[in-house]
Amino acid sequence: MQSRQEFQQTVATRSSHGLRGHYDNIAADFTVAQDYGKYSPAHQDVWRRLYARQSALIAGRACQAFVDSIAALARSGFADAIPRFDDVNEALAKATGWRLVPVPGLLPDAVFFEHLANRRFPVTVWIREPEEFDYIAEPDLFHDFFGHVPLLFDQKIADYLQAYGAGGLKALHLDALSHLARLYWYTIEFGMLLEDGRLRAYGAGILSSPGELRFVTDDGGHDPQHHARFIRFDLMRVMQTEYMIDDFQQTYFVIDSFDRLIEATAPDFTPYYASLRNLPALKAGAVLDDDRVIAAGR
Ligand code: PHE
Ligand code: CO
Repeated sequence: MQSRQEFQQTVATRSSHGLRGHYDNIAADFTVAQDYGKYSPAHQDVWRRLYARQSALIAGRACQAFVDSIAALARSGFADAIPRFDDVNEALAKATGWRLVPVPGLLPDAVFFEHLANRRFPVTVWIREPEEFDYIAEPDLFHDFFGHVPLLFDQKIADYLQAYGAGGLKALHLDALSHLARLYWYTIEFGMLLEDGRLRAYGAGILSSPGELRFVTDDGGHDPQHHARFIRFDLMRVMQTEYMIDDFQQTYFVIDSFDRLIEATAPDFTPYYASLRNLPALKAGAVLDDDRVIAAGR
C-alpha cells in the first residue's frame, strides 16, 4: 500500500494536472475537517444552482430509489445550502449505518476500500468554481454528494458498496484491481437499471451530470455519433471491459434489479480473477456478437 507521504509526493509532482485538493492536513485515514466556514457565498450559490438544475432532471430518468431519496434530502434542507456532513450523518446512521467522511479528493485505493468496507463514504470537501458549472474533470463535493449519497440511504446499495470495499482489499492482494475497478465504473458510476421495462440511471457519474443524464434517457436530438448502446449486465464481460473517462460512455451495462447485482457479485472472485488473466481486455464502447443489447438511444 502506498503510504500517505508517497501519495502526497505523487500529488505534489503532478504539476498542472495534479489533484487540486489540499492533502497537507490529512489524518492517517486521509480524512480532513469539513471547515464549513470556508465555503463562500459564491460556493453556496454554485451548490444551489447545481442542485436545482440536476433535481429538475431526475424524474423519469433516475431510478425510483434515487428519486425518493432526493425528495427526502430536499425536505431536510440539503438542496438549499452545502450540507454539513454531521447533519447528514445523523439521518444516514439511522437509515443504513453509513457515515460520510470529509476528504480532500481522490484517495489511494487501499484507503478508499478500507473506508467503504467500514461503511464510511469519502466525500470531497471542495466544490467546483462557477466557471466549471457544466464540466469538471475531478470528482468534487457536488458529484460525490448528489451522485452517491442518495443511494447510500438504500439498504441494497449500502450493502453492495460495503461488500465492494471488502472485495477491493482482496483484489489488491490478488493484483486484480483493474478488473474490480471496471465493475465500480460500470455499476456505481455508470450503471443503468431496467425498472418497469424502462431504462433508468443509478450510477453517480450519470446522475450528477446534466448532459449524460439526458443523453442516456432521452430520445433523439443528440449527436448520432454518440449513440449509446445498453447491454445486459454480465459480470465477466464488465470486468473485461476498459473504460473511457473523458466523454459520455458509448456502452452502458444494465441490471434488472439491485438484488441481481448483489447475487452476481456475491461469489468469491478469486477464480474469476484467475480466468480474467487469460482473457483479452475489451475496448470501451465495443459491442460483441453475444451481448444482449436492450435498445439504442433510449
Ligand atoms: N464477492 C467479491 C469477492 O469475493 C467481492 C465483491 C462484492 C465485489 C460485491 C464487488 C461487489 O471478491
Ligand atoms: Co463517483
